[in-house]
Amino acid sequence: MCTDIFEQRNVCLDQILAERRSYRMFTSEVPDDDAIRRILHAGLLAPFAAAAVGTSKDYFRRFFVLRNGSASLNAVKSLAMDQVAVMAQELKEGMEKNPALRERAGSFADRLSLIQKRGLVPGIGTAPVYIVVAERKGFPPVELQSLAHCMENMWLKATALGLGFHLVSITSQMSRSAEFCSILGIPAGEWELMGCAVGVPADELSPSIRPPVEDLTRWLD
Ligand SMILES: Cc1cc2nc3c(=O)[nH]c(=O)nc-3n(C[C@H](O)[C@H](O)[C@H](O)COP(=O)(O)O)c2cc1C
Repeated sequence: MCTDIFEQRNVCLDQILAERRSYRMFTSEVPDDDAIRRILHAGLLAPFAAAAVGTSKDYFRRFFVLRNGSASLNAVKSLAMDQVAVMAQELKEGMEKNPALRERAGSFADRLSLIQKRGLVPGIGTAPVYIVVAERKGFPPVELQSLAHCMENMWLKATALGLGFHLVSITSQMSRSAEFCSILGIPAGEWELMGCAVGVPADELSPSIRPPVEDLTRWLD
């Protein structure tokens, strides 16, 4: 099976897998619409939970592209900051009552307070394009897993196109916000959401460094 053609395909694939990094700094150059469409198409090719979403004729995945400087992105920027404030307050109260949470969530709490100081959620207003993907809720509720597959496909495609990409996971918390969903034009509560930022990378990151796979693997008899 390992013919030359498969070897060549794997050289390309391995390179893209290793070069996929979280790029969080972008130039002001806006990726063209065709590149964005190709990234969305890669997301559409990702697996979905067929048994959970059933056979509804209304397609269960949607994409929303918000460009920096647009009215919709400006509105979302402040909604995202409101969400950060809610999360920071809830976490603070939880950590006061629960010492185990205090220990585990300390660095996340610090991150939320840094975002509050800066006044911007990374990826929403810091990148030329913010993309939201919606997956219809089904049973069992596995839409976040489907969205993760979708995001990974989009991430790999962005990498192959030479674009930078990072996840914006606060998007998921915003799925319950009626205001956010109304900007997207979807009913609140029916869709799970995930987001990412895309742009031309301002810097170059080294390929991923991971421990040898054998150190982390047990082959069972
Ligand atoms: C579930 C999940 C949520 C993440 N959320 C964010 C996020 O909101 N913002 C961000 O910049 N990176 C986010 N990341 C990216 C990780 O921080 C990143 O993948 C990790 O540090 C490894 O770095 P690399 O992507 O450059 O290999 C998330 C990753 C995962 C798996």
